[in-house]
Parts: sequence; C-alpha cells; structure tokens
Amino acid sequence: MIRTSKTISAYDKNCRAFSKKFMEFKQYKERISQFIHLLDSGMKVLDLGCGPGNNARQLILSGKEFSIEGIDLSEEMVRLAQQNVPGGIFRCADIRKINYPADSFDAVLLSFCIIHLNDMETAQLLKKVAKYLKNGGKLYLSFMEGKADGFEKTSFSDDEIYFYYHSLNRVEGLLKDNRLSMINVVKQGYEEQDDSITTDVFIFAQKEQP
Ligand SMILES: C[S@@+](CC[C@H](N)C(=O)[O-])C[C@H]1O[C@@H](n2cnc3c(N)ncnc32)[C@H](O)[C@@H]1O
Repeated sequence: MIRTSKTISAYDKNCRAFSKKFMEFKQYKERISQFIHLLDSGMKVLDLGCGPGNNARQLILSGKEFSIEGIDLSEEMVRLAQQNVPGGIFRCADIRKINYPADSFDAVLLSFCIIHLNDMETAQLLKKVAKYLKNGGKLYLSFMEGKADGFEKTSFSDDEIYFYYHSLNRVEGLLKDNRLSMINVVKQGYEEQDDSITTDVFIFAQKEQP
C-alpha cells in the first residue's frame, strides 16, 4: 500500500534525525522509565515498531536485565537499533504480519507504532499481542488523539508520513475485548512544529488471568 511504502521510505531516509530528536526526549523517557518499574529482571520483551531502539536502549540501561526482540519495517531503523542496543535482536518485518506462539513474552511495547495502522489493523495487532503476552504480562501502548488521518511532514522529516489518530475510547474497548486491563492512562500535550498541540496518550495494561 502506498501509505505504508511512502511512510517507511520517509523513516528510512530520516532515521538519524528521528533518533536525534527522540533518543533523549524527556517526556517519552519518563513514561518508559515508569513502565520499567512494572518489569523484573530476566523478562522477555517484544518491541514492535522499535524505531532506532530508543525504548529498548532505555530498558538495557535501566540496570535490569532484559531479553529484547525488536521489529521494524524500516531497514535503516533496524540497523540503528542494532547499533544502539547491543545484545538486542532486531529484524526487519511488518508488524501486521507477525506470528509468535501464545505466551511468548512478559512485556510488549507498542510505542507510537499504531499511529501507522488503521483501525482494523490496530484491532488485529492488539488481539495478537494479547495472545503473545503471558498471563500478568505488561503492555506499553502510546498513540496520538485528535487530528484527521493523513500525510504530514514532521519536525524530523520533510518527506511525508501517513499518521492515523486513534481515540482512547475505542482503544480502551479493544483492550477490554482482549483481556488487557488498564493499569494506568496518561494524556500529555506534544508541541508540533507549527505550535499546535497534539494529544499523546500513554497506556500501561496487563493481561488478566483467564
Ligand atoms: C513514530 S516511530 C516510533 C519508534 C519507537 N517505537 C518510538 O517510540 O520512538 C514509528 C516506527 O514504526 C515503524 N513502522 C511503521 N509501520 C510499520 C509496520 N507496518 N511494521 C513495522 N514497523 C512499522 C516505522 O518504521 C518507525 O520506525
């Protein structure tokens, strides 16, 4: 699909600018750091749409030991993630086509990756993620609310990227349908290049016992 191919070539081309902006982005680092408090050493973590490995790197530097697998459709992002997170396993694949056995992971990160999936793809991904998580396993999910879907230029890319905006209500419903219970939800303003404010939503959830 043209939306995905244009989006991924923009990420390929601008991966270094993305990494420069978000590797040390305070607002996002604080959220991941809070999530790490929910995790224990030795856990297996899946990072979907991992980008340059910014979140995985924070996990590695936290002092806890994690086994991390990251997936991204941008080859350049995967290359950067491999450099940034020695010891992690990163591969280039489409998160809409992943397949793992049930109960494979203690935690899954979906950090600003459903912003590139439509409603149906998001529903399918959350269903799979719920299956891959062990009982009691933790989910980190972030996305944006607010605007109309479409191609946009961003602070890190003059090449257009297609963004989907999701509503908290709908996402909450999908989590509930998949036995993922909410631990915490935070909404936070993000200042865009044109000074407008987008609402970022951060959810921590947990897979319920059957
Ligand atoms: C906004 S970045 C987020 C990166 C990182 N998770 C973070 O929070 O900073 C979105 C990432 O999702 C990746 N992506 C977009 N669509 C994808 C797909 N269908 N499969 C795998 N990765 C995808 C992009 O290449 C990009 O690296």
